Amino acid sequence: MKAENRRTFLKIGGAGILAFFALIWNKLTLNHIQISKQKEVVVPVSNKEVTFTDDYIIIQQNGETTVLSSHCTHLGCKINATENGRLLCPCHGSAYDLQGKVLQGPAFKNLERISSEISADGRQIIIKG
Ligand code: FES
Repeated sequence: MKAENRRTFLKIGGAGILAFFALIWNKLTLNHIQISKQKEVVVPVSNKEVTFTDDYIIIQQNGETTVLSSHCTHLGCKINATENGRLLCPCHGSAYDLQGKVLQGPAFKNLERISSEISADGRQIIIKG
C-alpha cells in the first residue's frame, strides 16, 4: 500500500470512528433528555394562589389545581411574577391569565398545561412533567 493510499485510508477510517462516536453520543444525550422530560415532581400543597417553582407555575384557585409550564412561549424566559391576576414574563412583557391563556404578546401561544394530581392524603401535588 502506497503511503498516500494509507493516509487516505486512515482519514476515512478516522472520520468513520468519529461519526460512530458522534452517533452514540447523540443517542445517549437524546435518551437522557427523554428521561428527564418524564420526571415526576412532588410539591407540597400551599395556601398561596400562585406558586412558582423552577419549571412550573402552580395555580390553586376555587379548589382546583392547575399546573403550567413556567417557560414563556415567546422565547422561553421563566415567568416569575403575577400582577392583578396576570402571569408576567420579565423579558419582553408577555402576560397570561391564570389558566395560561395569552393576554398580551409578543407571545401568541398559551402556556403549556402540565398533568398533575393531588396525593391521596391531600398534602402534595404530584406533577408529571
Ligand atoms: Fe417572554 Fe419574550 S420570552 S415575552
